Amino acid sequence: MLTIENLTIGYAGVVILDGLNITIPQGKITALIGPNGCGKSTLLKTISGSLKPTKGKVSLAGQDLSKLSHKTKAQLLSILPQSPITPEGISVRQLVSCGRNPYLSHWGGLSQQDRDEVQAALIETGLCDLADRAVDSLSGGQRQRVWIAMVLAQDTDYILLDEPTTYLDLTYQVELMEMMQKMNRRGKTLVVVLHDLNQACRYCDHLIVMKKGAIIAQDEPHKVFNSQLLKEVFSLNATIMMDPIANKPMCIPL
Ligand SMILES: Nc1ncnc2c1ncn2[C@@H]1O[C@H](COP(=O)(O)OP(=O)(O)OP(=O)(O)O)[C@@H](O)[C@H]1O
Ligand SMILES: [Mg+2]
Repeated sequence: MLTIENLTIGYAGVVILDGLNITIPQGKITALIGPNGCGKSTLLKTISGSLKPTKGKVSLAGQDLSKLSHKTKAQLLSILPQSPITPEGISVRQLVSCGRNPYLSHWGGLSQQDRDEVQAALIETGLCDLADRAVDSLSGGQRQRVWIAMVLAQDTDYILLDEPTTYLDLTYQVELMEMMQKMNRRGKTLVVVLHDLNQACRYCDHLIVMKKGAIIAQDEPHKVFNSQLLKEVFSLNATIMMDPIANKPMCIPL
């Protein structure tokens, strides 16, 4: 189980997250939702270890993540940042192969198993035809799929995705959410930042709702997703109905 205890972090002395306590349920898909600037990316980066908290800790199965080496951590947990920076001139296959870096020996290149994992990730994300293209020559949505493929190739038990549906057309958004469910059925625990609240309710088992650096609610969608919450967190007047396909709550702005 991934737990966050008394987590406090800020930038240049300004506190953004103050004393957060969160439990990420193992083997589930958790959606992190909240308005722009409320601290979702900051939280995800702190969980992944790329930001150091001023107070508190993140533990996995009782083990403090900050005590692990980069390599060990990268075998346990992967992150797709909100705005990843593409190395200049790198090809699709090369970038996806970077997902295997935590498994390479000190002097070795990719093993056959590494190459198979990369190929499987390219197939799963529909990128085989683009494998030799330079990533910076791709469209926004194609590039986003390359980053998702890299995370797939990393093959970690915990996967953090910061707005993975950005740039994707609706068909690819649905495909991505279904891919997340497939990974989940293979035993992966996912934490995903989403702005589409209806997708969050439909595809995720657990919601963490944030506002101004605080946790307002954390529970299953049908227990927390209601009109009062949307008003309080997003200042949105909306009515809640049951999605007739998935039988999950969905909101319709008034
Ligand atoms: N590197 C930084 N230096 C200073 N302030 C920062 C930095 N990164 C984020 N912030 C501030 O921290 C707050 C939380 O930002 P964060 O990126 O975590 O929000 P978010 O919930 O992910 O928003 P969005 O939905 O727009 O992606 C914001 O007020 C933001 O301006
Ligand atoms: Mg963000």
